[in-house]
Order: sequence, then structure tokens, then C-alpha cells
Amino acid sequence: MIFKKISDSETTITELMVPAYANFGGKVHGGVLLSLMDKVAYVCATKHSQSYCVTVSVEGVEFLYPVEVGELLTIKASINYVGNTTMIIGMRIESQNPRTGANHHTNSCYFTMLAKNSEGENCSVPGLILENEIQLRRFCEGKYLKKNSMEKRNVLKSDFKDHANEVLIEQCKDDKCEIHF
Ligand SMILES: CC(C)(COP(=O)(O)OP(=O)(O)OC[C@H]1O[C@@H](n2cnc3c(N)ncnc32)[C@H](O)[C@@H]1OP(=O)(O)O)[C@@H](O)C(=O)NCCC(=O)NCCS
Repeated sequence: MIFKKISDSETTITELMVPAYANFGGKVHGGVLLSLMDKVAYVCATKHSQSYCVTVSVEGVEFLYPVEVGELLTIKASINYVGNTTMIIGMRIESQNPRTGANHHTNSCYFTMLAKNSEGENCSVPGLILENEIQLRRFCEGKYLKKNSMEKRNVLKSDFKDHANEVLIEQCKDDKCEIHF
């Protein structure tokens, strides 16, 4: 099996936030940021796997600070964990006001990317060489994240489908909804 260093696929981009990215409130659209993050995750995943990759899931997206038009947005991405055919890319996003130099950590999240071969089938990706404590900790966090996300998926696929309406109605009786059927 091939093993590769995390530094071989680490990716950083900086992009100017132009007026076309703004929402009605004058801030940068969350969707624009997600699209940029998806591209960076792809670059990182394709460098590691040397394959075409697709996005499987995105976890932990939380916009901590608004991004303004005119700011510089820097996205840093590296592979935290690899499974058999998937890679978890950890990402940190920072915005900078170029005039004042003020920086804000706007977002951190995890993209799961899956490698495809030339026939469009899922394919195995190289292993990771962990070279320091941070990389080891991130690898273990990624393993935990993958286990959790699979469990969550299984709960959503089965448990809720199998519950009778009476059980579901009981579960949300104190919530902000009215049942009209
Ligand atoms: C991702 C996809 C292949 C999963 O299909 P599946 O039949 O459930 O595949 P498997 O159960 O064999 O899982 C394949 C891998 O995906 C991982 N996976 C599947 N669903 C996942 C989820 N919700 N979150 C994280 N990982 C997931 C599995 O753990 C497995 O990883 P591994 O090989 O590293 O161990 C399938 O849903 C798909 O093709 N989705 C479309 C992806 C795409 O086109 N994205 C672009 C958006 S336009």
C-alpha cells in the first residue's frame, strides 16, 4: 500500500471578496464560501488520491463571523483522516481586512471526499504518514467523526422511518409546530 505525507496535499488559497459575492445585507453569501471551500477540498483530495473525487458530506460548518466585500479570504486545507475510499479534509477559513490587517477566524469544518477511478467506481486511497502530535490527534478526531457521521446516517435512515406517527407526535409535543393531520 502507498502512504503519503499530509504536507504533499496541503492546500491554501486566498481570494478577494468581490461585490458579486454579496447578499442583500452586503455581506458575502454563505453559499459562495461553501463553494470556494468545496473547490479547495477537491484540490486537496485529488492531490492525495491522484483521482477524480466527489463530495460525500460536510460537517461542522458554522459561520462564526460575517465576511465583508473587499476582504481577503484565506482557506487552509489538509487531509486529517483517510478511510478506504474516503478522505476527511479539515479546513480553516480566515478573513482579513487588507487596510487594517485585522484577521477573523470565520469558520472551520470537515469535508468528506470520495475517490473515483476512471470507470467511475469508488477506489482505494493512499494511507497517511503522520509526522507529529497534531496530525495524530487530527487523525483520531477524523476517525471519530466518520464513525459518528455513519451512525447519524443510519439513525436517520431507519429509526425515524420505523416510528409510528403517535411516537413522533409525542416527541415534538413541546416544540414549535402544530400537527394538522
Ligand atoms: C458517497 C456514496 C458513494 C456513498 O454510497 P454508499 O453506497 O453508501 O457507499 P459505501 O457504503 O460503500 O461507502 C463508501 C464510503 O463512503 C463513506 N460514507 C458514506 N456515506 C457517508 C457519510 N454520510 N458521511 C461520511 N462518509 C460516508 C463510507 O464510510 C465509505 O468510506 P470508506 O470507503 O473510506 O470506508 C454515494 O452516496 C454517492 O455516490 N453520492 C454522490 C456523491 C456525489 O456525487 N457528490 C457530488 C455532489 S454533486
